[in-house]
Amino acid sequence: MVFRGWACLLWVSSLSYAFGAVTVYGPTGAERPTGTTSGAGASATPVQESWLNAYNAYNNVRLQPPPLPNPLPPTEFAITLPSQAQNMPGLSIPQRGDFWGFSIEMSVVEQVIGKNSSFIQVPFLNLLATVAERAGAVRIRVGGNTQETATLVDSLPDNAMIVKDSPVQTTDPNTGQTPTLVYTPELLRLLAQVSALVNAKWYLGIPMNDTSHLRLQIAETADAILGDNVLGYQVGNEPDLYASHGHRPPTYNETDYYNEFGVVVDAVQQDQNIKSKSKLIAPSLQGQWTPEDLFATGFLDSYASSLDIIAMEHYPDQNCAAEFPNGGFGPIKDPQTVFPEYLTHTSGQNLVKPYLNTASIAQQLGKEFMMFETNTASCGGFPGVSDSFGAALWAVDYGLQMAYSNFTGALLHVGGQNVSYNPFTPPPTNLSLFDQWTVGPVFYSTLFMAEALGTTNTSRVVDLAANGGNEFTPAYAIYEDNALARIALINYMSAQNGVGTINVTISIGGVPAGEPNDIPAEVEVKYLLAPSVSEKEQITWANQTFGGRFQSDGRLTGSEFVQKIACDQGANTCQIAVPGPGAALVFVSSGAQSSVDPTTVTFSTTAVTKAIETLKIASSALATSNGHKGGVPLSGTSRGSSGGASALKIPLTFTLASFFTGALLLIR
Ligand SMILES: *[C@@H]1O[C@H](CO)[C@@H](O)[C@H](O)[C@H]1NC(C)=O
Ligand SMILES: *[C@@H]1O[C@H](CO)[C@@H](O)[C@H](O)[C@H]1NC(C)=O
Ligand SMILES: *[C@@H]1O[C@H](CO)[C@@H](O)[C@H](O)[C@H]1NC(C)=O
Ligand SMILES: *[C@@H]1O[C@H](CO)[C@@H](O)[C@H](O)[C@H]1NC(C)=O
Ligand SMILES: *[C@@H]1O[C@H](CO)[C@@H](O)[C@H](O)[C@H]1NC(C)=O
Ligand SMILES: *[C@@H]1O[C@H](CO)[C@@H](O)[C@H](O)[C@H]1NC(C)=O
Ligand SMILES: *[C@@H]1O[C@H](CO)[C@@H](O)[C@H](O)[C@H]1NC(C)=O
Ligand SMILES: *[C@@H]1O[C@H](CO)[C@@H](O)[C@H](O)[C@H]1NC(C)=O
Ligand SMILES: *[C@@H]1O[C@H](CO)[C@@H](O)[C@H](O)[C@H]1NC(C)=O
Repeated sequence: MVFRGWACLLWVSSLSYAFGAVTVYGPTGAERPTGTTSGAGASATPVQESWLNAYNAYNNVRLQPPPLPNPLPPTEFAITLPSQAQNMPGLSIPQRGDFWGFSIEMSVVEQVIGKNSSFIQVPFLNLLATVAERAGAVRIRVGGNTQETATLVDSLPDNAMIVKDSPVQTTDPNTGQTPTLVYTPELLRLLAQVSALVNAKWYLGIPMNDTSHLRLQIAETADAILGDNVLGYQVGNEPDLYASHGHRPPTYNETDYYNEFGVVVDAVQQDQNIKSKSKLIAPSLQGQWTPEDLFATGFLDSYASSLDIIAMEHYPDQNCAAEFPNGGFGPIKDPQTVFPEYLTHTSGQNLVKPYLNTASIAQQLGKEFMMFETNTASCGGFPGVSDSFGAALWAVDYGLQMAYSNFTGALLHVGGQNVSYNPFTPPPTNLSLFDQWTVGPVFYSTLFMAEALGTTNTSRVVDLAANGGNEFTPAYAIYEDNALARIALINYMSAQNGVGTINVTISIGGVPAGEPNDIPAEVEVKYLLAPSVSEKEQITWANQTFGGRFQSDGRLTGSEFVQKIACDQGANTCQIAVPGPGAALVFVSSGAQSSVDPTTVTFSTTAVTKAIETLKIASSALATSNGHKGGVPLSGTSRGSSGGASALKIPLTFTLASFFTGALLLIR
């Protein structure tokens, strides 16, 4: 254990805590063993049945898995891959492990991130750490419709960080009305504090509801408070919907947005308090306008020096009739009917198709290209679909498809408690029970993706059009540092009577002729599994889980299991079975597996009204949280590296102190 041999004392709210070999004692001297599993323990507030159907995030809808495809695709097929990237056509640009990040609606920041910089939601930190220790970092956008009218003020009554004018937290799709939000710089200090604990980077939005009275304070203040931890400022959230939402005249078109964007660009250039003048993100179109029609105005040429990221926002479907029965959206869609639309490779392919040209343009311009807000379905998702294991497989495939298609990142949206697609949701109470979060299936997809891409920034992805391009059995190869490193296999089918499992024969090398056979003696495989595509709770990644609804404190529980599969080097083959449903990540060499640092800081604390609980944050995440002091390597370097924890003693003291303040305040 890396932190043995040092200790310090912290005084927080008159309670003393001794850190020694990562055990923290409460004031009674009681010690709880580290690493206890999360879940409703004896001391936890019982889950209220009334929560389950009151909010879509915890709905009880459970669908039927679709029948096996007819005709059944071949369940045994071969994939032959060159071992060197130079011999593999169609590879993407190099991708980062933090490809999948999160988009958090500004109005739910207090529930999801924290009340202020000394009251941070510990499960949120744990979840981010789980991604960051695999990806090297995690990217989060705070914004959405709310950003357009949000106003930064110096202070608010009662030390509040955010005040919403209206308690209604839904967005009316006809008017696009979201509550007007007023917030203080404490919101930005909260984000900075999260970045001090986990390697989290942020995207924010400059309000664009009124370009004759610009409010640039967010960029001025965030530059000062967050510095390099703010990656960019979005200017315009779905401007192609401004007219239909009544925010602009009905004639509002691409030229109007071009002109208004120019007003913001000029103002940013002239604002002495904004240091980073080339961090803008646009145009974030939802799909009413094509990127090409906007670009025809000269948008990219005119603003090239201000734009850092070209962004789009798109969901494959919408469930607006359920959220707004009288909104003119027609009959409510049946989740069971739409379910199969997510259980196919064609979903991700169709999602990226309208953007392939833009991806190519972005690459030529040297800009990032991001899917800035997405998820299974807008207007809250489909209960039973968005929160099913099927959605987890869909998000793995969609993420890899975007990476293959030269997007440079994508953000899964987190709405409030009444949407079913959230990657994570706090419990529906203002008590912020720290161990009763609900982790959605799509969160597992972000872990799969992070491990598929790793931490070197050199991973290039190719869609293998496997099994004759069959839509139910997609596969991707990932080449890292120019060599085959990992293979992702997805099986969307629901096996029945043993039929539906796929068995893939992998061969490496020998193509093109002359490349030597290169199958290793064995490969390691991590599986993303659940009993069925409609499963909502029993989901595992390499045998670890966040548990079911209201069962998570943001940490994976259970013991990790990595399957070792022996290969036939004589035949140059490996047989990889993928259960139906399931996804497998095959690590072609042990070096290809990013080390998820098993040495984690575990510590417990005492709440005023609750028994001692155990919290844990990954040491590797902490390791990256203080810059590069002592030359600490980033977490997730190849297996066998030390993690360099000895260099961490001093920064960690501060880190734990501030982290602990949050933990303490949170769980009372
Ligand atoms: C942070 O929020 C908590 C919970 O609302 C509150 O008790 C505390 O006073 C706040 N701290 C500051 C510095 O505003
Ligand atoms: C823009 O938003 C601000 C803050 O909510 C509001 O005061 C202002 O009236 C809005 N402007 C327009 C033109 O809607
Ligand atoms: C937008 O409308 C204005 C005014 O009618 C017109 O001059 C302009 O050409 C339009 N732009 C596009 C891209 O259609
Ligand atoms: C949640 O959304 C549903 C529609 O999906 C709606 O009927 C219900 O009233 C909403 N609940 C709350 C608490 O807003
Ligand atoms: C992605 O970019 C690479 C490098 O430019 C290119 O070779 C490849 O064809 C692109 N992929 C797609 C799907 O367009
Ligand atoms: C929780 O909300 C209730 C009413 O909604 C309020 O009376 C109570 O003070 C709140 N508790 C906290 C800890 O904020
Ligand atoms: C990967 O890219 C990110 C973002 O540019 C950077 O912060 C990080 O240091 C890079 N990692 C490596 C190993 O080069
Ligand atoms: C999977 O996790 C469970 C629960 O932690 C454990 O009992 C089991 O032994 C693990 N399985 C393997 C194969 O490691
Ligand atoms: C996969 O196919 C191979 C060769 O046909 C066979 O030996 C093996 O038992 C199969 N594995 C599974 C899990 O079906």
